[in-house]
Amino acid sequence: MKTVIAPSILAGDFGSFARDAQRAEQSGGDWLHCDVMDGHFVPNISFGPDVIAALRKATQLPLDVHLMIERPDLYAERFIEAGADHVIVHVEAKHDVAKTLAAIRRRGKKAGLSLNPPTPIESVLPFLDQIDELLVMTVNPGFGGQAFIPETLEKIRTVRQLAPRLDISVDGGINLITGRQCVEAGANILVAGNSLFRHKTLDLAGAIDELRQSVL
Ligand code: DX5
Ligand code: ZN
Repeated sequence: MKTVIAPSILAGDFGSFARDAQRAEQSGGDWLHCDVMDGHFVPNISFGPDVIAALRKATQLPLDVHLMIERPDLYAERFIEAGADHVIVHVEAKHDVAKTLAAIRRRGKKAGLSLNPPTPIESVLPFLDQIDELLVMTVNPGFGGQAFIPETLEKIRTVRQLAPRLDISVDGGINLITGRQCVEAGANILVAGNSLFRHKTLDLAGAIDELRQSVL
């Protein structure tokens, strides 16, 4: 499977999101990962459908919208209306998971499911045939710039064995070393914020290329 690089706009400049979305596209990013936080499901608040709509206007990249919200069943439609291509909901959120996934797919969008580091992999196994993407959180959600949790690698291996063709993404603390570990475990989508938008020496294009080369 080709490795997909998805820069996470959460690490971009909040004052120039549209410009940073264009930069991600011009710099060779494959998808744009958009973190929606409601201050309930996670201890942080980021942005809502209106920002997704602005990003939609700024880039052709597929918008990979990660809903870290308590009631994704109530808001998924708003994010689809705003321009989301993929809508990722959490298995730990307060909703009928199968119903929410089906509603996203009925709208012709990719349905994704995510689980947090403390959540056992068994909780998502019943849904593997109802999703287009499994997002394995490799940090506790809510903030960028956190350290990668190595115990999450085993979940990737387990799902890759059960679902050889499923898109498996990883999110949180992804860099040259942890990205390679995840790809070796079976992930094919790397979400990265700080290691791309805030690389110490390289510009965004250089950072994306370096990460892509590191997992070839
Ligand atoms: C965290 C978000 C991540 C975050 C990744 O809750 O889901 O997408 O932006 O940022 P880094 O790559 O800096 O850990
Ligand atoms: Zn995310």
